[in-house]
Amino acid sequence: MNYFSETLKKYFLIPVVSIESLDKIAPLTQTLQAAGIKFLEITYRNKNASEALKILQNNNFNMIIGAGTIRTLAQAEEAIKYGAKFLVSPGFNKEIIHFAAKRNIPFVPGVDSTLSIELANSEGISLLKFFPAEISGGIKWLKSIKGPYHEIKFIPTGGITLENLDLYVKLTNVAGIGGSFLAPKRLILEDNWDEIALICTKAIKIVEL
Ligand code: 3PG
Repeated sequence: MNYFSETLKKYFLIPVVSIESLDKIAPLTQTLQAAGIKFLEITYRNKNASEALKILQNNNFNMIIGAGTIRTLAQAEEAIKYGAKFLVSPGFNKEIIHFAAKRNIPFVPGVDSTLSIELANSEGISLLKFFPAEISGGIKWLKSIKGPYHEIKFIPTGGITLENLDLYVKLTNVAGIGGSFLAPKRLILEDNWDEIALICTKAIKIVEL
């Protein structure tokens, strides 16, 4: 977990992407990397996830590639086989937590309540995805949670945009930000790499403020 958390401190932003078409992977990854993004989360939201991870594994991009929307052990296993360096889930799944710990791979389960924080914490996990962030209370939730759970850090994801990013970045219990806003599906479909680069550059500027 250390390597993941340490790198997150520096790079902070995790674009969350569902790959609709495999030929977009190379230009997308090159665009993100050139813009200064270090992480890329490929979600298991469609059948392309494993193939996308395989392509990334064979291409030696200088990025930390992870797998998101991991909901089953089979997905976790497959993602690791195809080179995923971290796993993310939308919710709390004890089986996956134990599996990831055994395989020594950083795993960030999702939470949206004190109950799920307690469950994750009882498994020794203190870096959590806050999902779906905006609709679950956004920065107000994070501020309220900080008192009782001062040692827990969150990666808010879900509804983060260039417009509200600065509000999240300011919070001391935010360890990173995930979101599709960094590489929106529509722009990927349109091969609009310049626009994606611009969004990432703007986001990095906000994080560095
Ligand atoms: C995820 O899978 O982590 C989220 O769906 C990303 O949410 P966003 O599209 O609102 O950024």
